[in-house]
Amino acid sequence: MTHLKFFLRAPALLAMAASFALTGSALADDLALAQKLATNHCAVCHTFDKGGPPGQGPNLFGLLGRKAASETNFTYSDGFTKAMAGKVWDEPMLDAWLTDAQSVAPGSAMVYSQDDPAKRQKIISYIKSLH
Ligand code: HEC
Repeated sequence: MTHLKFFLRAPALLAMAASFALTGSALADDLALAQKLATNHCAVCHTFDKGGPPGQGPNLFGLLGRKAASETNFTYSDGFTKAMAGKVWDEPMLDAWLTDAQSVAPGSAMVYSQDDPAKRQKIISYIKSLH
């Protein structure tokens, strides 16, 4: 009877292995897509690499968990500094920011709004992967 058990299990194990492999590459594809989206939407003004220079906006490496307006090599606008005082970047705040930056920090020098939640989520997942 042990033989029969093995035959029953083997396909299930194979299927499991295949689905793990798929999940792995699907995740890598997702992240590649997310990076492309972030590059297209943000890289004209922001760098994402560790220690990268500021552009028109501050470097975004390690953003989540970082205090807002805390990049010392970047001069933030008064509107942004006032609105974000004491705040720390987390996913909901970043989602709100990307939905409409001006409604989070009126008068900010960043004018951006992305009304597609799936695109915002991808950009956030890319930023989350940078640490
Ligand atoms: C046209 C230029 C421009 C684009 C495009 C742009 N930003 Fe910005 N961003 C800025 C500027 C300028 C600031 C500084 C805001 C201020 O001081 O008012 C900023 C600030 C930020 C901050 C605050 C960081 C901190 O240190 O507190 C985040 C987060 C951010 N941008 C994310 C993004 C993301 C993500 C994208 C792409 C979806 C993006 N930005 C696209 C110009 C831009």
